[in-house]
Formats: sequence, structure tokens, C-alpha cells
Amino acid sequence: MSQLNDIKGRLALITGASGGIGAACARQLASKGTHLALTYMSSLPNIQSLTIDLHSLNKDIRISIHKVDVGKAEDIDKMFSEIDAQHGHRPDILISNAGYGKRIPQIWDIDLEEFDYTINVNLRASFILTKGCVEYMRNQRWGRIVFMSSIAAQGGGINGCHYAASKGGISGMMRNLSTRLAEYNISVNDVAPAMIGDTGMIPNGAAFPGLTETIPLGRLGVPEEVANVVTMLVTTGYMTGQSLLLAGGLK
Ligand SMILES: NC(=O)c1ccc[n+]([C@@H]2O[C@H](COP(=O)([O-])OP(=O)(O)OC[C@H]3O[C@@H](n4cnc5c(N)ncnc54)[C@H](OP(=O)(O)O)[C@@H]3O)[C@@H](O)[C@H]2O)c1
Repeated sequence: MSQLNDIKGRLALITGASGGIGAACARQLASKGTHLALTYMSSLPNIQSLTIDLHSLNKDIRISIHKVDVGKAEDIDKMFSEIDAQHGHRPDILISNAGYGKRIPQIWDIDLEEFDYTINVNLRASFILTKGCVEYMRNQRWGRIVFMSSIAAQGGGINGCHYAASKGGISGMMRNLSTRLAEYNISVNDVAPAMIGDTGMIPNGAAFPGLTETIPLGRLGVPEEVANVVTMLVTTGYMTGQSLLLAGGLK
């Protein structure tokens, strides 16, 4: 296996693979021969049909499925025990993608419980997931970490400050980790999408009348375009500490 950027035979953990963007990432990595540990929380039928698709793309890869609420540290611990048992080692690649965002634009409508829950699922989980992977990556001096941020991290998008804080926290954590982990050949980046259709968050343009017209490119993004950026990051280890905006021209 090439020490640089070959991901064939590596193991990638993708959280939220039952959703639009996570499933697209899984398809691309499967086609490159990467073994997969995939998580879902509630959408079991999605993950089951995805697994069938993935095996038809590449019958040689090992795929494990884990039911995880990433807001619960004990669920994440249990998942790592399952990964140890089923793959024999921790992930070489972490795609921390599972996310939550109840659309509440104004701070006076966001209660503390909603704020805490959003921070737990979007930010705290990425910290716990990284801690679970990073020792193995450090020992082998090879690792790739990609967080799923959002245009919200820089104040944009259609959600409120609770979601912005959770995604902004991810970008700050990414930048810090990228400087700390570079000497161990672990790259850390995030992807910051906006307005991606075919997802639970934005099923299609019709679900949000007028939204598409606000996007300079005049259309929603598609999950495969986000996956293209994730694949580029995990196969380009020289790039680290970057937040890549993928937003159809939105600022
Ligand atoms: N779509 C966009 O325009 C957009 C823009 C910016 C950022 N993002 C980010 O992209 C990521 C993926 O979202 P998506 O657009 O693909 O939406 P999605 O289709 O709704 O997928 C969300 C995924 O996250 C999982 N999830 C939600 N809460 C969870 C929890 N507490 N524990 C574990 N898993 C949980 C869901 O699992 P189950 O369905 O199995 O419950 C699902 O797999 C998220 O981090 C989101 O914030 C999306």
C-alpha cells in the first residue's frame, strides 16, 4: 500500500451514512476499494439498501453497519468496540458527517435544550470520534480526518446561531488539530456545504420555495459534489487545515 495517498484497503468510518451526503461519500470510497464502517441512527432501510449498492460496486470490500446516536458518548464507545471486533483495527479515515439542524432562525426562539443538543451532535461528537481514531492513526503515522461543517460556520445559511456555533466550532477544532497532528502525517480538514438537495435536510427545491433563486448558480448542489471534495481530501494528504466552501456561489 502506498504510504502517500492510496486508500485502497484502508478503513473509513463514515457517520450518518444513512443520509444523502454520507451515502454519496460511501459510494465513492467503496469504488476506490476502501473498507467501510457506516453509521445510522434511525434510517435502517436506507443503510440496508446502501450496503447492497456498495457490494454491487465492489464485492471485495468489508462493510460494517453500526447504530449510533452520536450525541451519546456510550453509543460511540460501543461502535468502536464493534469496529475493533469486525475490522481488527481502528479507522484510517474518519468522515464525521452525521449532523442535525432544526431550522430556527432567531435566537429568541432557540431554547437552551436545543442549543445543547445541537452542539452535542454536531461538535462534541466530532471530538469524541476523533479521540477514538487518532491514537491508531498516530501510531501508524497515517490518517485522514474530514469534518462536515457548513456555510453556517461563517454566518451564512438559513439556520440560527445554535447551528452556526456548532459548525463554527468544528472549523476551529479542525484548524487546531491540523497543526497538532501534521507531524504524525494526519491531515484534518472540513467541507462546508450549503443548499445540498437529495438530503434529509433539503429534499428538493420545492420543499423551500424561493430558495433556489437565492443561489448564484441557480440550482441546489448534489451529494455527489460534496463527496467529490471529501474524496479529494482523503486522497490528497498534503492538504491540511482547510475549510472548503461548496455553496453554488453563496458567500
Ligand atoms: N444538506 C445541506 O444543504 C447541508 C448543508 C451544510 C451542511 N450539511 C451537513 O451535512 C451533513 C449530512 O447531512 P445531509 O445533508 O446528508 O442530511 P441528511 O440526509 O438528513 O443526513 C443526516 C445524517 O445524520 C444522521 N444523524 C442525525 N442526527 C444524528 C445523531 N444524533 N446521531 C447519529 N446520526 C445522526 C442521520 O441518521 P438517520 O437518518 O439514520 O437518523 C443521517 O444519516 C450534516 O452534518 C449537515 O449538517 C448539510
